[in-house]
Amino acid sequence: MNQGDGKKSYAQNSSHQMAVMRKTLPIVKDIIKEMFINHLTLFEMLENFSIADLGCASGPNTLLFVSEVIDTVHKLSNQYNYKTREIMVFLNDLHKNDFNNLFNALPSFYDKLKEKHGYEFSQKCFISGVPSSFYERLLPSKSLHFVYSSYSLHWLSQVPRNLDNKGHIYVAKTCHSDVVDAYKNQFYKDFYSFLVHRSHEIIPKGRMVLTLIGRSIPDPSSNDCCCILELLAQSLLDLVSQGLIRKEDVDSFNMPVYHPYKDEVKTIIQKENSFDLEKFEIFECNWDPDDQDYGYTDKFDKKRSGRNVANCIRSITEPMMKIHFGELVLDNVFERYEKRVANHLENEKTKYINLTICLKKK
Ligand SMILES: C[S@@+](CC[C@H](N)C(=O)[O-])C[C@H]1O[C@@H](n2cnc3c(N)ncnc32)[C@H](O)[C@@H]1O
Repeated sequence: MNQGDGKKSYAQNSSHQMAVMRKTLPIVKDIIKEMFINHLTLFEMLENFSIADLGCASGPNTLLFVSEVIDTVHKLSNQYNYKTREIMVFLNDLHKNDFNNLFNALPSFYDKLKEKHGYEFSQKCFISGVPSSFYERLLPSKSLHFVYSSYSLHWLSQVPRNLDNKGHIYVAKTCHSDVVDAYKNQFYKDFYSFLVHRSHEIIPKGRMVLTLIGRSIPDPSSNDCCCILELLAQSLLDLVSQGLIRKEDVDSFNMPVYHPYKDEVKTIIQKENSFDLEKFEIFECNWDPDDQDYGYTDKFDKKRSGRNVANCIRSITEPMMKIHFGELVLDNVFERYEKRVANHLENEKTKYINLTICLKKK
């Protein structure tokens, strides 16, 4: 499953990720700087600086991140009078990701790089694609210095097996505790295996910065994470009551995501035991990506916010929903969803909780 499918959907969805990137890039830059200063000897022994962006998608954010990291390495190399080595960038996503879109943007990316840092430096930057799941091994042993992943790790490798979650599409306030446990266990398994695989690929003292959507409250059925999908489940049920889709089809549709609480993430990191947790930051952003800069009281526009949120969630869920329910019903579902979200936001401020985790390989 690829929630980044299609240029239109990505564009609608990218402003959330931009807001998140604005928060995490300073952290990334500080960490790379710290690596250069404190581990100079370690990294001097190596011919190159290798980074990977896991779950990179294929939109403008992907190369923006790469460009920021390359600029940082270039600046640090000059600052510390450090012979610039080669920079290897591995862009990973699922096979279905539009890597062609990404690769087509590379010639102009390299032209800009030459303009900014000169021909010689541009010849030392190697960008390649790694189409595979990050829940598998991706790269050779000890081949990476720095790993980044933004807004991808809350996606599970699969919907938990044998889920009995009638009338919902994710964890919900009224769902059975078995459903909660199944989602929790799947996340545990996936995130644990993500850490194991990266532990082989990252050199000692190498770093990872991971940002994913989580929750601020231990209870997984709390509003801050499951409400946005429960409103979608209710919109699907609206169509069931009109006879437009079958109840069994809603009962058998579940989202392969999980929004963990910070302690759940910390426990898995400790149990897996290959990484030290250096920093754990939590920040919020509004459901409506256009609403980031305004207080809810001054510029809140119910209709616009409902539409923006519905577009975001549609861009993420459409590929899966199209397969399960068919394309014809989707406009109807999301019209209802837009109204439900608008009414919800009018009554309750609701935000995404973002977890940014900085790890150092032991
Ligand atoms: C919301 S996009 C985030 C894109 C980008 N990192 C950003 O911040 O703009 C999530 C991406 O994660 C990818 N993804 C989900 N599960 C994955 C997996 N198991 N392995 C690799 N990529 C995955 C999706 O295909 C999608 O492109």
